Amino acid sequence: DNYAVLMAGGVGSRFWPVSTTQKPKQFRDLLGTGETLIQTTFRRLTALVPAENILILTNEKYEILVHDQLNVEPGQVVLEPAMRNTAPAVLLAALKIYKKNKNAVMIMAPSDHWIENETAFTNDINAAFEACRRDDRIVTLGVLPSFPNTGYGYIQYDKNGSGKVKNVNEFTEKPTIEVARRFLKEGNYLWNAGIFIWNVDFILRSFSRNLPELYDLFDKGREKLNTVEEFDFIGKHYSSAPDISIDYGILEKEKNIFVIPASFDWNDLGTWGSLFDQCDKDGQENVVLNARVLAQASEGNIISSNSNKVVVIDGLHRYIVVDEKDVLLIVPKEKEQEIKQIREMVQKKFGEN
Ligand code: GDD
Ligand code: MG
Repeated sequence: DNYAVLMAGGVGSRFWPVSTTQKPKQFRDLLGTGETLIQTTFRRLTALVPAENILILTNEKYEILVHDQLNVEPGQVVLEPAMRNTAPAVLLAALKIYKKNKNAVMIMAPSDHWIENETAFTNDINAAFEACRRDDRIVTLGVLPSFPNTGYGYIQYDKNGSGKVKNVNEFTEKPTIEVARRFLKEGNYLWNAGIFIWNVDFILRSFSRNLPELYDLFDKGREKLNTVEEFDFIGKHYSSAPDISIDYGILEKEKNIFVIPASFDWNDLGTWGSLFDQCDKDGQENVVLNARVLAQASEGNIISSNSNKVVVIDGLHRYIVVDEKDVLLIVPKEKEQEIKQIREMVQKKFGEN
């Protein structure tokens, strides 16, 4: 059987102040398509996996948002009582799936990405499923890098291998800018799209080798999973898990990694700049979301508003302007990665936002 795990517990803090702890970006219609990002992702996965085999992993804060936006049974939603990043969440999901079917293959997918060609996506993932049914390995999806982005993982791969699935030599999560520049120059690197495929039996063994303490913590509750006792077990033990992503915890350590260079267009929608790249520009090369804007001699800005104010800009270039109820943010696009820290500073100084 095929299973899918949809990761939807992030806060999307670089998209602050539109993405907030109360309602992160995956629950918003960022692109103006009429669907929220998680609804689009769910629909995309149903082409690969029966809808009832899709698990949603998210923070307990978002229980109502998930059920409002997706037609899923309560048993398909795992609610985390603490934010511990992706590794603990995925391990829990893999243990649950293993209990249903020891031979299952699964895909772990982020809930907040833009993917252009859904047929190409489905073909790539089906090829990955097939490879993982046969062999013990992690298959990643890789995207041709276009600039030294320090917010991504980098996959060094063997270009010359035959077939869709290539050998990976090394995985590096979020390198420094110097290292990212070197990777781009060397040419045999792909960006990690954050989509992973494996068979559950193998990933559980990988967890027990690479994150043994985390593995033991959840392994203790194995017989309680998928029963009425699961909720209680998670409530008691989840918060003791280390705060670590699958990228640092498993991918950087595991030897058995492969990559399929993606044949679809992909955008992580991680920052305001990535949204700018993805959206239609107006006559002056600005992206205007939901706002009434008068722009003069201004180019390359992204302006978003959830107030009724008219926004007037003159001589402004490559800025992010976001007007929300409690916050007005004006930051140069080149500093988009810093918005996460800016948000923390604002919270320290003025309280929760
Ligand atoms: N359930 C759950 N619990 N989901 C989480 C949690 C959590 O505690 N934290 C994050 N997520 C979800 C996010 O909502 C998102 O869908 C996905 O997991 C990835 O988390 P991000 O926080 O967005 O990761 P990232 O963007 O810094 O890095 C990852 O994605 C990049 C591509 O977009 C890495 O995999 C990079 O290597 C990769 O290049
Ligand atoms: Mg992300």
